[in-house]
This record gives sequence, C-alpha cells and structure tokens, in this order.
Amino acid sequence: MRVLGINAVFHDPAAAIVVDGELLAAAEEERFSRRKHGKEPVPFSTWELPLQSARWCLREAGLEAGDLDAIAYSYDPALAPAAGEDITANEWEGLRTLFAERAPRFLQSALPGLDPSRVRFVAHHVAHAASCGPASPHPTCAVLVLDGRGERGSHLAGRYREDGSLEVLASQRLPQSLGLLYEELTDHLGFRRSSDEYKVMAMASYGEPAFLDDLRGLVRATGNGGFVAERVDWASYAPRLARGGDDWTPRHADLACSVQRRLEEVLLDLARWLHERTGERALTMAGGVALNCVANMRLFEESPFEDVWVQPASGDSGTALGAALHVARELGDEPRPMRSAALGRSWNDDELASWLDGAGIVYERPDDLPGTVADVLAADGVVAWFQGRSEFGPRALGHRSLLAHPRTPATTARLNEVKGRESFRPVAPMVLAERAAEIFAGRLPSPYMLFTHRVAEEWLDRIPAVAHVDGTARIQTVDREEEPLVAALLERFEERTGVPVVVNTSLNTAGRPMVDDPRDALECFGSAPIDLLAIGPFVVRRPGSEAALGRALQEVGAR
Ligand SMILES: [Fe+2]
Repeated sequence: MRVLGINAVFHDPAAAIVVDGELLAAAEEERFSRRKHGKEPVPFSTWELPLQSARWCLREAGLEAGDLDAIAYSYDPALAPAAGEDITANEWEGLRTLFAERAPRFLQSALPGLDPSRVRFVAHHVAHAASCGPASPHPTCAVLVLDGRGERGSHLAGRYREDGSLEVLASQRLPQSLGLLYEELTDHLGFRRSSDEYKVMAMASYGEPAFLDDLRGLVRATGNGGFVAERVDWASYAPRLARGGDDWTPRHADLACSVQRRLEEVLLDLARWLHERTGERALTMAGGVALNCVANMRLFEESPFEDVWVQPASGDSGTALGAALHVARELGDEPRPMRSAALGRSWNDDELASWLDGAGIVYERPDDLPGTVADVLAADGVVAWFQGRSEFGPRALGHRSLLAHPRTPATTARLNEVKGRESFRPVAPMVLAERAAEIFAGRLPSPYMLFTHRVAEEWLDRIPAVAHVDGTARIQTVDREEEPLVAALLERFEERTGVPVVVNTSLNTAGRPMVDDPRDALECFGSAPIDLLAIGPFVVRRPGSEAALGRALQEVGAR
C-alpha cells in the first residue's frame, strides 16, 4: 500500500511517504519554503498544506498522486469541538475545523490526480502515538503522547499490542494541557510559543525550584492516567519579559526551574500509572513535550520502565509519519520500525559539484575528507558539515551540522554568535557509541539527542563547551555501521586531539530553518564566519581563515 502522510493543522507542516509498511521519506515544509516552522500557528493557516514536501515525497517514492492508496491527514475534524463549545476560547476555532474538513479538496486541487475520497482523517494523538510505538524497535510497548493540544485533548496514554493495534487507556481533555502550560511560560519569558520551549528548559538549569510548592498545588496527576493543569498567574512569580527574553533575572530562571521540575514529577506519576496498567518493559513517547530531554532522562532513570524510546520528530511534523504508519496498518500492511532520522533530501557527488561550479566558488576534493575536517576542527575552526540525507525533526544528527572543538567555552560563545542565539544555550556533543559510556552516564545509546547525560567528572574540564551549567550534556551517540563517515571524522579528530567528542549543532543561522539543499549550505557558509564547508566529498575554505587556523594548529602540535 502507498500512503502519503500529511500534517497541516497546527504547526510544523510536513509530509511522509510509507510504501508497504516501510517509511521511505519524510520532510518538513520549512526546509523547502525556508519559513521557520512552515507557517504561523493560527487557525486560519490550516489551509496551508505541505505541498513542496508532499511533492518531493511522491517523487522520492517514484509515485504520482493518483497512485496513492491513501492520504493520512493527522487531525480528525469530526472530533473537533462543535460550534459554541469552543474549549480554547478562540473565535477562529471553527475556521480550523472547516479548513480541515475541506483538506481533501484542497489536496486534490494542489496534487492533480489525487483521489479526495482516499483521504483518511487520523485523530491527532493517535497519529502522534503511531509515530512512536510502531516506529520504535519495541514490538509491544506502552505509549505516552504529551502534547499542547489535539482535537479536544492534550494527551494519550495506552499500549501497542502484539498485533500492532493501539489500546487507549487514558486521554486528558482540554483545557488541561501540560504542553500549553509550558507554552504559556515560554511566551511569558519572551520566547516564541510552540517553538522556543527548549530555551525555557535551558534557562531552568540556571535557577532553583523556588516556586515548586505552589506548582504542586496547581499541576498534578489525578491518579486515573490524567492530570490537572490549572491556570498559573505567571506575573505573580516574575514579571513578563519583552520579546527575546534578554532581560531575564534569577527569578525568571527560578520560575522556569520550578515548572520544569513539576513537569518532570507529573510525567513520572503518569509513567508509573501507565506501567502499572500495562506491565510493559518499554515506554515510547511523542508529542511536543517529549522533546524535553531533561524530563526524558528522569523518565529513563526513575520510572519503572526499563527503556524509554522517543520519536525524534516528536513535534507535530512527526504526525505526518505517524498518520501514514497508522493508515498503512489499517490497510493491512505491517509498519516497520524506522532505522534512522535521515529521511530527507540528498544529492550525489556530480550534482554537488555542479552546484559548486554554478556558484563560481573555489573548492577541492581531499583524499581524506574526515582527516581534512578534523585538521580544521583541531585548530579551533568551525565546520559546516553537509552529508547525505537531511534529518527529519528538529535535531541535527551529523547530516546538516555545524561542528567545532569542545575544549573551550569560547566555542559555545562563537557558535552562539554564528547562530545569533542566547548565551545560556548549550551546544551538544557527538561521540562514538562504543566510547560514550567512558564519558557520559544516562540512556545509551542515544542516537537522536533526546536525553541529557551526566558528564564524568574527569571529562568536565576537557570538554567544557558541551557541558551545561549543571554538568549535563545532550549527547548524540554515533553508530559506526549506520554513520561510517561521521564515525571516521570522530576517530580522526581523536587522533589529532586525544578527545573523542565533537561539538555538533544544527546548520543554520539565526531564525532560519536548518540548511537542507546545497544552495542553503552555500548561503549559510557565505553569511557566517564558518571556516570550512564540507559538502559531500568536497570542501570549500574561507579565504583568510587558513593562516589563523594554521597558527592555531601549530600551537596544538607544540603542546
Ligand atoms: Fe501535536
């Protein structure tokens, strides 16, 4: 069966294609449109479909729209609030429902040949659930969806049985929502809702849980799989911050810390309830809240589940993938686990060479690409690394990455400058899977950067750029079989420096979506102080940076 998955309703529009139960490709619309998060998260943008990513998914699978057996749309307007029972008090809500109902005809007009009667609506949280349970390596598992909102709910708890069916055990109705609670705090702290929640998580580690007692009264599990999240008068704890969140004080960090801590406690309560009900060994998670890697670490370490697996595209983009897997199963296919998050576009060597020729830029093809890149990194250079298929989801995982040496906190400052980010934001390390346990404690392996790990004491001053203020790091472990080129780079870097860890952050500049195609890579390289672009087998050097790096390299060698 050939199933196209579509996420369009709230934010992060995306498309995915599943053929005979196998996930062939998935992409977020922002990577094509170059509009961060694809569109505004407002009801009247529901008509905006992820058309460029959908067309690319079809091309990638060698299909025409008329070949599709089904189109899986990750929202069911039949479950949406009826007129007059507007649970979010948003007067535009009816428009969202109307646009979702009309989606089959919108799709038909935009993708000629598509049969609108083949569009199937999938409940939003079922789509999230199918993005983690069936996509995970666990044949049976418990599933927890933790979201801002779906049609009428904000959460789903259940299990995937051996036959691949989903049993829903609990769901929390709106307006109670852990995701919206965190979004409100994000907004109060001057950051962008449904986008910048990770900044709040980073700020939390600078604070103390000074308001935890109050929050325990306002936000609590109810003992039946659900929870209560009452409205919080944020300003009574810390004044509202202007856009950008630059003027934050210790009180703001304390508020972020208190909410973060309470979220972790409630998630642990929900996980304990779910374990008691299911007795499953593994917990799988999706929904925007599942991107909270500090909470994920606590669930892994303190919940009764032996393993925790999180969908790397846990935000709404992942519902395109989940809806497609769910419908594939409904049509009789057996969905297979995803093997990698590298589900996006790629270009072959000839195509890359012609992009570079077209840009009229000087480039070379080194015999030893990982060694050449390792030389620049060892000399404290910043490298743009563009290799293979782009990642699906918000994390760079060694395909569209900015790389650097982790030995000095100045690296963090320099990368944050390249990316125009807040100074408190940590950068993350990548490490070979077999070396990770020497340096990091926590859930290993961790291929998708969805957990935090404690950095071993003796490594803290060797890799300070990747250790957050609380001594943790959000690591990516690199599997030698799956990522041979990144593994070779890590080895060459260690040969030169004695350090088996490289800083990895997403390849983009401030406020822009991650680099996806070669033009994006060249624009990013051209507009930021990056020393080397490694694009496929080719490298482009920044004129003038070589001398400075050469001097630095001599110093390294002299030590
Ligand atoms: Fe969602």
